[in-house]
Amino acid sequence: MRFDEADFLAKAYGDAQGLSVRTQTHRRYGIQPHDIFATITSEAARRRHPAAVLDIGAGTGSWYHAVRRLLGPSVRYVGLDRSEGMVARLEAEVGGDPNAQALLGDAQSLPWPDGSFDWAGLHFMLYHVPDIRLALAEAWRVLRPEGLLLATTTTERPYKALFDLMAQSLTSLGYRIGEIASPAMRFSLENGANFTPAPPELLSFPAGFRFDAVEPALLFLSSGPIDAALDQAGAPTSLRERVLTEVGKRIDMVITRDGSFLAASRSGFFVVRKCERSEV
Ligand SMILES: C[S@@+](CC[C@H](N)C(=O)[O-])C[C@H]1O[C@@H](n2cnc3c(N)ncnc32)[C@H](O)[C@@H]1O
Repeated sequence: MRFDEADFLAKAYGDAQGLSVRTQTHRRYGIQPHDIFATITSEAARRRHPAAVLDIGAGTGSWYHAVRRLLGPSVRYVGLDRSEGMVARLEAEVGGDPNAQALLGDAQSLPWPDGSFDWAGLHFMLYHVPDIRLALAEAWRVLRPEGLLLATTTTERPYKALFDLMAQSLTSLGYRIGEIASPAMRFSLENGANFTPAPPELLSFPAGFRFDAVEPALLFLSSGPIDAALDQAGAPTSLRERVLTEVGKRIDMVITRDGSFLAASRSGFFVVRKCERSEV
């Protein structure tokens, strides 16, 4: 399985359920000191105030809400996603907002003329796109001169402590697996600057979860990571509950010992300004 394959994407993002679980987990158990979408919006606004914002791979519209909260109703917002389920959810989020739109489409082929937007954001999505450079070139193309490209991602090994417990549990059940790969390895804080159309600025922050109970950690894993781990270990999906039970026991031991379980990560975003003379 690859993180940019149609099969994986249909399972992970066919509907909004898994992403909603992960967003809720961030809200309730996230340890980052601020909402990353608010930070992206305020940092970008300090550099260039936008009239029109494009959210590529918009998902359930987390950025839409930050843009509205911080910049008000006059900024035009367009969210695009390749999943019909996500677009349906995004339409519900932006419903009734005359200056917002949700559209079905692919980041690798955008349906707008050159120079249509002041900001083009690709948040936590580039690592799912088969041709990352093409998606960035398309975002760059639709930016106005002096516009900002904003590409958000995580460290290449987010929530390592949690992923290591899945690997240990699979090993204890007879499936040998080293480190479990994460989607972010394709476009991460560490390697992202190799892909951007001009040298970027990088702003990054501590992130991750601190769980005081086992269930929310298992709910998070059930929203996608457990299926990727089983697949990488070559283990059957019938083992899903057993692996989760094993992981739960290990998390419980840590919570009993330390009072909580920390799954640290790091998130951040690249900012690239489209200067008159920059080229792809
Ligand atoms: C992890 S979610 C991130 C959603 C949102 N940007 C956020 O940060 O909450 C990734 C999203 O990218 C979308 N996506 C994946 N590949 C895409 C592509 N080639 N073009 C447009 N959207 C894509 C998925 O359908 C999914 O909604």
